[in-house]
Amino acid sequence: MDIFEARMNELYELVKYHAGLYYDKDSPEISDYEYDELVRELSELEREHPQFARKNSPTHKVGGRPSELFAPVKHSVPMLSLDNVFTPDELANFFGRIEYTGGYVCEMKIDGLAVSLVYEDGVFVQGATRGDGRTGEDVTENLRLIVPEKLTNAPEGRVEVRGEVLMTHERFNAVNKLREENGENLFANPRNAAAGILRRKNNNALNTYGLDVFLYYLVDAESFGVTSQTGALEWLKSHGLPVQSAYCHCGSLEEVGEFISRMQDERYTLNYVTDGVVVKLDDLTQWASIGTTSHAPKWAVAYKYPPEEARTKLTDIIISVGRTGALTPVAVLEPVKLGGTTVSRAGLHNADEISRKDIRIGDTVRVRKAAEIIPEVIAVDKSARAGTEKVFTMPEKCPVCNSDVVRMQNEAAYRCSNRASCPAQLVEALNYFASRNGMNIKGVGRKLSAKLIASGKVKTLSDIYTLTLEEWTTLDKVGKKTAQNLLSQLEASKKQPLVNLITALGIPDVGKNAAGLLVEHFGNIDAMRKADEKEISQIAGIGEVIAHSVHEFFRNDANITLIENFRAMGFSMGSSIIISNNILEGKSFVFTGALSSMTREQAGEKVKSLGGRVSGSVSAKTDYVVVGDKPGSKLTKAEKLGVKILTEQEFLDILNAQ
Ligand code: IVH
Repeated sequence: MDIFEARMNELYELVKYHAGLYYDKDSPEISDYEYDELVRELSELEREHPQFARKNSPTHKVGGRPSELFAPVKHSVPMLSLDNVFTPDELANFFGRIEYTGGYVCEMKIDGLAVSLVYEDGVFVQGATRGDGRTGEDVTENLRLIVPEKLTNAPEGRVEVRGEVLMTHERFNAVNKLREENGENLFANPRNAAAGILRRKNNNALNTYGLDVFLYYLVDAESFGVTSQTGALEWLKSHGLPVQSAYCHCGSLEEVGEFISRMQDERYTLNYVTDGVVVKLDDLTQWASIGTTSHAPKWAVAYKYPPEEARTKLTDIIISVGRTGALTPVAVLEPVKLGGTTVSRAGLHNADEISRKDIRIGDTVRVRKAAEIIPEVIAVDKSARAGTEKVFTMPEKCPVCNSDVVRMQNEAAYRCSNRASCPAQLVEALNYFASRNGMNIKGVGRKLSAKLIASGKVKTLSDIYTLTLEEWTTLDKVGKKTAQNLLSQLEASKKQPLVNLITALGIPDVGKNAAGLLVEHFGNIDAMRKADEKEISQIAGIGEVIAHSVHEFFRNDANITLIENFRAMGFSMGSSIIISNNILEGKSFVFTGALSSMTREQAGEKVKSLGGRVSGSVSAKTDYVVVGDKPGSKLTKAEKLGVKILTEQEFLDILNAQ
C-alpha cells in the first residue's frame, strides 16, 4: 500500500473516532486544536492524492449525527461549518488575495454549540442544534430557558437566527464545584458542559447551571432590508437578541490582522472561551456571489489561535492515586501565566510518557493549555539543563497506603495493589459508588466520602450501609436531619437494579455501558462471576481488556466478600430490568427493518422494560421477529426456522395489552 494511502486510512479512523467522542458523546480525548490538525492533514492529503479519498470523508461533514433523543428538525438553510486558517498568509490566500470593497467583520469564534432559533410574529417557537448540518435536534424546550421568549420591535412573520450556546467561565467553575461536591464527573471544558446540558432531556440542570447564547447570523437578511453583516448584528441587537460585544469592522486585511493580534491576549478578559476569530466579508451581496462549498462558506473563515504555551520550571513530580488505584504522575510547576490563568500543575499522563519525553525533575519545560482545563507538559528544553536534574522513577509503594505498586500486562498505568482498602482508592471508590450512575445516593459526594474514610468508620464499600444514626451524626456537619435523610437514601439505593451495582463496584474499565451489556448477557451476578474470560470477551461490545478486568475482579477474595455483604443486605443480584409488568419474561425478540412509530432502540427498551430480551440475530431460541420496513436476511432466517413473525402493529398490540 502507498504510504499516503496508509496514512489517509489511519487518519480516517482517527478522525472518525475523535469526531464521535466530540460530537456524539461530548467527551473528547484530544484538544480541539489537535483534532483540527488531523482534519487539516487529511484534507491536504485528499487534495494531493484524490485517488485515495473516500466518498463519505469526514472532511465533507459538518458536526455529528443528530441523537435519537430529540425529534429531528430539518434546517431551512443548511447550517455549515467553517474552514480554518492558522497564519496571516493562509488567511490572505483564503480570500484569494483580493481586498474586498465593503471590508470585513471580525467576530470572536465562540467555543460553544451552534443553534438555530425560529421566531414567529416575534415569539420563540422552535430551536434546534446543528446536528449534521442538514438535520438537527429539536431542543426548543431547553432553549426556552436560555433565549429571549419575545423579540422587541417584533417583525411580522418568520425570523430565523443562528448563534452559539455557551457557558461562561464563571458558571463553568461554579458548575464543576457543585459537581465535585456531588461526586459527579467534572466537565472537561465549558463547551462540553454546554453541549451536555443543552442536549439533556428533562432539564433541571439548566435551571441550576444556566447557559448563555450569542447570535451572529440572520437568515435571509435581505428580506429585512439588511445588506451587511454589521447591519445584521445591529438588527439582532435592536430586536433584543444577545450579540457578542467584541466584534469589529475592518477596512482591509491588514486591519483584520491587527484585530487578530490584539485579541490573542485580550480574549482572556472575555467571560467565555474563544479559540479564534471568524473573519467574514461584510457585504452580504458578495456572500451570494461567492457561495459555499459542501460544508463551509467561502465568504467567511475561522482564524484559529495556536494553543497557548509557556516555559517554566518543573520543580517536582507528585503522584495522585485514583479510584481504580492508578498512580498518575502530576508535574509541579513554578507558577506561570497561561491561557488567562496561573498554572502550577500539569498532567504527565503516565510513566511511559515521562520517559519518552525524557522529563526530569528540575527541567525547564514547555507547557500548553488547549481547550481543556488541565495543561500538559509538551516538551523539555534540554539546552537549559544544568546537569543536576533528577530522573523520575515510579514509586514501588503506594504513596497513600504503602502497599505494593503493580503494573498490569499491556497497561500504561501502575496501580496500587490494595484495591479493597487503600484509603485513596476508597474515597474515590465510595464517591463513585454513590454517584448517579452507581447507587445514586444523594448527599454522598467526595467530601463526605473523605470524612467517612478518615473517620475509620468505612473500611470497605458495604460499611456505609452499617452506620447507625448516632454514628452518622458524629461526622462534621452531619446533623440529625441530614443523617436521617442519608439513611433513607441508603435504604432506597438497595433497590437499584443490578446494572447500577455492577457500575458502582468500579471494576476498572467497566462503566454503565459495559455493565449493561454484562447484565444483559448474564442476567445475574453469579453467572458473571463464574464466566471465564473467553465467554466474557465474546459479548458484543465487550473487548479483551474489559473481559480481563471483570474476570480478575471476581477472582479477588475481598471483592467476593463485598458482593456477599451486599447480597446479605438485600441488594438486587438478579437482573437489571425494573419489571413493572413482566409479561414478556423469558421471551426473546429480534428486530429487522425500520419501524415507523419508534426507533429500534426504543422498541428494545420497551421489550426489556417488560421483562423480555433483545438479540441481534435470529436462532431457533428466538421467540419473535418483529418486521419493519425493508427487512433484512433475518426475516428469511426466521421463516426458515419457523420463528413467529410479528408486524409492527402486532408488536404494538402486545405492548399495549398490558
Ligand atoms: S459564522 C455558515 N460566527 O464555529 C457558517 N460561526 O467551526 C456561519 N462559531 O458552525 C458560521 N462563533 O458553530 C460564525 N462568530 C461566529 C462563530 C461561529 C462560533 C461556530 C459555529 C460554526 C463553527 C465552525
